Amino acid sequence: MKHNSRHSSRHIDHATVQRILEAADIVDVVSDFVHLRKTGGNNYKGLCPFHNDRTPSFSVSKSKNLCKCFSCGKGGSPVTFIMEHEQMSYNEALRYLAKKYNIEIVEREMTDKEREEESERESMLAINDFALTHFEQNLTETQDGRDIGLSYFRERGLSDAIIKKFRLGYSLDQSDALHKAATGQGYNDKYLFGTGLCGKSENGRIYDRYKGRVIFPIFGTSGRPIAFGGRTLSSRKDIAKYVNSPESIIYHKSNVLYGLYQAKHAIGQQDKCILVEGYMDVISMFQSGIENVVASSGTSLTEGQIRLIHRFTSNITVIYDGDEAGIKASLRGIDMLLAEGMNIKVLLLPDGEDPDSFARSHTAEELAEYIKQNETDFIRFKTKILLNGAENDPQKRAEAIKDIMQSVAKIPDEITRHVYVQECSTLLNVTEQKLMSHMEAARTKYNEEKANERRKERARESIRDIENEPATSELDQSATQAKQPEQVATTSESDKQLAAYAAFMKTYECEVVRYVVKYGVMDFCDEIDENGQQHPIKVIDYVLRELNIDNISFVNPVYQRILKEAYALRQKNWADDIDKHNEILIQQRQKAIADGIEEIRRTAHDLSSITAKEQALIERVDKEYYESITEFNCQYIAKFMMYSPDDQVRNLATDMCIEKHELSRVHTKYAKIETELDRLTELVPRAITELKDAIIGCEIKGIQQEISDLSMQPNADIQHIMDLMARQTQLNEIRKQLAKAIGDRIITPRK
Ligand code: UTP
Ligand code: MN
Repeated sequence: MKHNSRHSSRHIDHATVQRILEAADIVDVVSDFVHLRKTGGNNYKGLCPFHNDRTPSFSVSKSKNLCKCFSCGKGGSPVTFIMEHEQMSYNEALRYLAKKYNIEIVEREMTDKEREEESERESMLAINDFALTHFEQNLTETQDGRDIGLSYFRERGLSDAIIKKFRLGYSLDQSDALHKAATGQGYNDKYLFGTGLCGKSENGRIYDRYKGRVIFPIFGTSGRPIAFGGRTLSSRKDIAKYVNSPESIIYHKSNVLYGLYQAKHAIGQQDKCILVEGYMDVISMFQSGIENVVASSGTSLTEGQIRLIHRFTSNITVIYDGDEAGIKASLRGIDMLLAEGMNIKVLLLPDGEDPDSFARSHTAEELAEYIKQNETDFIRFKTKILLNGAENDPQKRAEAIKDIMQSVAKIPDEITRHVYVQECSTLLNVTEQKLMSHMEAARTKYNEEKANERRKERARESIRDIENEPATSELDQSATQAKQPEQVATTSESDKQLAAYAAFMKTYECEVVRYVVKYGVMDFCDEIDENGQQHPIKVIDYVLRELNIDNISFVNPVYQRILKEAYALRQKNWADDIDKHNEILIQQRQKAIADGIEEIRRTAHDLSSITAKEQALIERVDKEYYESITEFNCQYIAKFMMYSPDDQVRNLATDMCIEKHELSRVHTKYAKIETELDRLTELVPRAITELKDAIIGCEIKGIQQEISDLSMQPNADIQHIMDLMARQTQLNEIRKQLAKAIGDRIITPRK
């Protein structure tokens, strides 16, 4: 899936994206799903579609083109709303909006290699589309299909509606029925082999892979058939029960979940996903009304599959039908879910039952009730399983405790980890302190492993970056001085230090980035140059210049990327854009005045009232005009970033804008409160000063550490220590000057 979404998101042309974002009106988009009521000004309200809302907590601001639920917190731009509500990827949401507004999607010019790959993908999907219909038709429109395939599904308790919903089919028991049909329609052998629908035997004979099997199509998240599973109807032990499509450029098994396409809506709505093993389990449960169910298709869960689920929910219930030995073996796989920050529950079915049989032998209510009553928290479940039979064996007990703490150690959230330690302390009858030390040790080890992996990944990425992007901008240079201390440390030590440094800097970098995103193109103060001339400066120019003067770049990659995008935007067509928009506003202003004057003259009774009314009209229109300009400028950079193909950039930008939305709500109640906008002159330089101060602070600490380390050594290099001390004094001096220096560069606040 990761592959898919990245692949296709590259391809919508930038201008198209822009057109979509200009057209998409939040009130219009949300109204398709929520009944909205106007609450005054440009604001609307309705019942939140993301949680069980009794009083309307979902507000929509037309002017800001944002929505947000003040109760559950969900919302965002038109695109994020559609992503959330329709459980679509970013790219799917863009396509959805394009369709809604009749915008033709122009695909970005692709490189030859991309074009080739794309047409290969397209050809394979097209052939799968064909095969899907072919198998479906076999099932109901051929005698064999009805007698063998359809009657098999019915015997297993499937309704016609569910057969249709999952688009089940039948592959005729003839050696090359599909091959003949497909080539007869002009489909190419190459793709019949590539998708695995057909194969070639050693003697060169072409055969249908799923011959005589019932077919379970497997869909990608956007609903196209990317693979098939074919189940034999024979009970012979020497043939595989299922034959599945091989890996290909359209089917990466480890990134696919069976049933997700059908389940995603229910998963989002219930904020929970149920994981089972097989095709039939999914379909039977779905038929019983449990629609938020997917299968890992026999293999153990992969990281890609977990990410896929995580896109829709953080809550997962894993259903086990195995015996205890089987369960024990699969426990380890679940640790991956913990590491991804998922909340996991497990459900054990009664002996001899699987989800399919259980769903068929119970009513929908019984099934739902059974799940509710019997799902148990994973850590508690694991503890019970591992302790079972180990009560009197100290060796086994110790191993179990270690094992459980290893699982707990993988949970990203600290508070959750502690809660589990407390709970396990009761369950295991071991002191919290003791468990805690086990857990912390496991966590240190786990973090080191992860850091190692990340480092390798980063190394690979940087090689890719260098290959793709030879020219580095000023922004890419890193704060080399602040990172110096790590060069003497060991690699994993230095990783830890860098991570700690990045975490420490995060607040400061975020604050600076916030001002750029939210107010980037606002003129926020005047500067006096050497000739005594006054110039207005924009927030973004001020920030970039301040960072460049001291050669600072952000250590947190997201903020670095945001700044880079903002910088690219600054370089591009924004002046034109703003002029264009201003022109529209000026025209609107003139029209509003002309119309208003006409109306006043038409309805006026005496001359003196005309002048007064006209004056009031012009004042009102002008006020609106200036507000519109501010509004437009205020949102300019944010509006672009809310549509960035970079997930993290987009999410952060959206959050930053929503935050403003919330603030302004308060401000309307207490009209006198100064907004951030009024205080930019003071706030932006302060954010920069604090950032610089933090960097220098870190460097001073590093130097102090180095000095103290060196002075412990018997034959330390005195000169080196002296140099370090001089540098430290210098830095302290800079620190003192910092606030003042920034104060000097800004002369007069602009009104
Ligand atoms: P099951 O044997 O539990 O299959 O394997 P099932 O879906 O419950 O099918 P029925 O009820 O016997 O008809 C679980 C999953 O493992 C994969 C399939 O995805 C199956 O749904 N599997 C199993 C294979 O891919 N190949 C096999 O030979 C067996
Ligand atoms: Mn089964």
